[in-house]
Amino acid sequence: MKVNGQHYHTIWVKEGDDSIVQAIDQRVLPHQFEIVDLKTCNDTVTAIKDMIVRGAPLIGVTAAYGMYLAVLGNENLQEAAQKLNASRPTAINLAWAVNEQLKTVEGLSDRGEVIAKLLENAHRIKTEDIVISRKIGEHGLSLIEEMSQNKKGETVNILTHCNAGWLATIDWGTATSPIYHAFEKGIKVHVWVDETRPRNQGANLTAFEFNQHGIPHTIISDNTGGHLMQHGMVDMAIVGTDRTTIQGDVANKIGTYLKALAAYDNNIPFYVALPSTSIDWDIKDGLKEIPIETRSENEVKYIQGKAENGKLTKVLLTPESSNALNVGFDVTPARLVTGLITERGICNANKEGIFQLFSEKK
Ligand code: MRU
Repeated sequence: MKVNGQHYHTIWVKEGDDSIVQAIDQRVLPHQFEIVDLKTCNDTVTAIKDMIVRGAPLIGVTAAYGMYLAVLGNENLQEAAQKLNASRPTAINLAWAVNEQLKTVEGLSDRGEVIAKLLENAHRIKTEDIVISRKIGEHGLSLIEEMSQNKKGETVNILTHCNAGWLATIDWGTATSPIYHAFEKGIKVHVWVDETRPRNQGANLTAFEFNQHGIPHTIISDNTGGHLMQHGMVDMAIVGTDRTTIQGDVANKIGTYLKALAAYDNNIPFYVALPSTSIDWDIKDGLKEIPIETRSENEVKYIQGKAENGKLTKVLLTPESSNALNVGFDVTPARLVTGLITERGICNANKEGIFQLFSEKK
């Protein structure tokens, strides 16, 4: 998607030097647009941990390039896999991509061949993610189109949480892809963007994306969605997921569950958009089986923004000595999810629905 009129992906190999992977530094958006060089596997581990890159699909692609950089730097591939897998626990895309890389070099011993294969496969994973995100948008578009028809062409108001936009993937995004597609088709849309404390991915990243593309949107504090739903100001919610179980439970950014509850209480369709690489085919019960990340309390206690002097600044919000808890994700049970929007179509959030679309996984 575009930044100041120029098309960008979130991650790429540096032109003219394929020993360097480059990524957009998402820690400084929307106030600064900076590119970081990732030269070693450890750089990719740090990029994932520190959320230079974030969002489940992008974490996966970054890990795939991390495996390539590991061998380029003469590191042991199994050790690199372990480091990468441990960098963030919730998004299954990470382990999936690492595993794809291990599979692709199975049985190869020539270092040059291994390096070439890992790079080629990382490119493949990246390219496929773009196609998947586009397809999610094409399928999800039908839901927005239908809502627009029901509203006789009046604006469709969509609520989203966190950033499941192109910055969380390579291009298009998951939850945002249907919105971009609808907008391009001339359907009137407006998005309620949850700020998404503590790191404000909604206010910082989703709003940045929508500004760049001219998508009408309004940032709301995380506590506002329920009220808007009660007053008929939300027509549907679309969010992303870091891990989906085979029974359709989804783990997404903390606060998603509360929005799903409010949507359920107000009869508002609550959709989850996902690439199949976010499905954990080995687990059923999201509450019991999805590992939930806990991050530093400082992300709750401090907030980053642009100071009057134009510089990025962090300020303390709370009493210095208070404790804070920073749980990164929550699980929304399948019963609260109206449907899953995948690259193969839309299905019910249950085993039957998922396996109807992905019968080879049965
Ligand atoms: O902590 P983050 O910013 O990596 O969390 C991201 C989300 O919760 C997204 O909604 C999810 O990864 C889906 S991205 C298409």
